[in-house]
Amino acid sequence: MKTIINSAKKTLENGNLVIFPTETVYGLGGDATNVGAIKKIYGLKKRPFSNPIICHFKNIEAIEKNFEINAQEYDVGNAFWPGPMTIILKKKKTSSIHPLLSNNLELVGCRIPKHRIALELLASVNFPIAAPSANLATKISSTQTNHLSSELKENAFLIDGGKTTLGLESTVVKLNNNKLIILRLGSITEEKIKVKFPELIIENNDFNSNLSPGNQKKHYAPNLPIRINVNKVKKDEGLLNFGKNNLRSNICEYNLSKKADLKEASKNFFHFLHLLDNSNCKGIAVANIPEVGLGKTMNDRLYRASSNNE
Ligand code: TXA
Ligand code: MG
Repeated sequence: MKTIINSAKKTLENGNLVIFPTETVYGLGGDATNVGAIKKIYGLKKRPFSNPIICHFKNIEAIEKNFEINAQEYDVGNAFWPGPMTIILKKKKTSSIHPLLSNNLELVGCRIPKHRIALELLASVNFPIAAPSANLATKISSTQTNHLSSELKENAFLIDGGKTTLGLESTVVKLNNNKLIILRLGSITEEKIKVKFPELIIENNDFNSNLSPGNQKKHYAPNLPIRINVNKVKKDEGLLNFGKNNLRSNICEYNLSKKADLKEASKNFFHFLHLLDNSNCKGIAVANIPEVGLGKTMNDRLYRASSNNE
């Protein structure tokens, strides 16, 4: 792994891109201070510049160097980092992070991943790593390397770290006085945040707010049409099932968790969507998933995936 990290480090230092594993999904990373690298990320992902990219750091000190961070933000960061929490912070004037990363806004999403390879890579370079999920814009995230599209693999150095452990992206939040606004549901549930910070008012950002640009459009979508909360599977549809029920597909089916465990389901979620998308079914029918904890995050992804609003 040492020589792989070293090659990845050189790739990043030369302004090129690296696909690396995190505990949530694979990231498509580049030097956050290098405008050429940032342009490559947007170009390769086919992502509009209006949708900012989150920045990965090796530790809180590296974040403090670049951002104004108040006591509340520090406490939330400290409670969940390293881990799947992205906090939107205000850049210091002296920060070397390139403005193109966040559409010239002062606010940037920051996180410290909890993954040995990601942390080794971050420690090997002296800049933060800008990294969106390693998938084409609006498509399904990658939780193992065979999910990666060939366009991405051909244009980036790949570090294969096997399957990611959590399977759903980080939770994106913004703190505002005593409020914590969830901009994107993720691997850290609202319930978990409430337990640690009972004094904070937690709000879910609605879909059309412009606080979270990536949230408005069709997103996390397979190529096949998708129907959610189904009672019946059509004859040419594949099935993404959850728990025990009478739903059956004639073509192919995967059960996220037979014992209805949301953590197990999260881990399987994108993998099964990839498998169904590459099967010979004509559409994907999805069983009801309970609207609690990680179930809320999966339902959010499914709702966007089934949306026709490009
Ligand atoms: O788990 C994750 O977060 C993965 C791994 C690779 O770290 N990354 C990821 O990045 O999912 P991405 O770019 O696919 O999603 C980041 C989300 C987007 O919905 C984006 O709009 C939002 O965070 N975001 C990023 N920067 C923001 C900002 N400055 N203000 C508001 N929302 C922001
Ligand atoms: Mg993404």
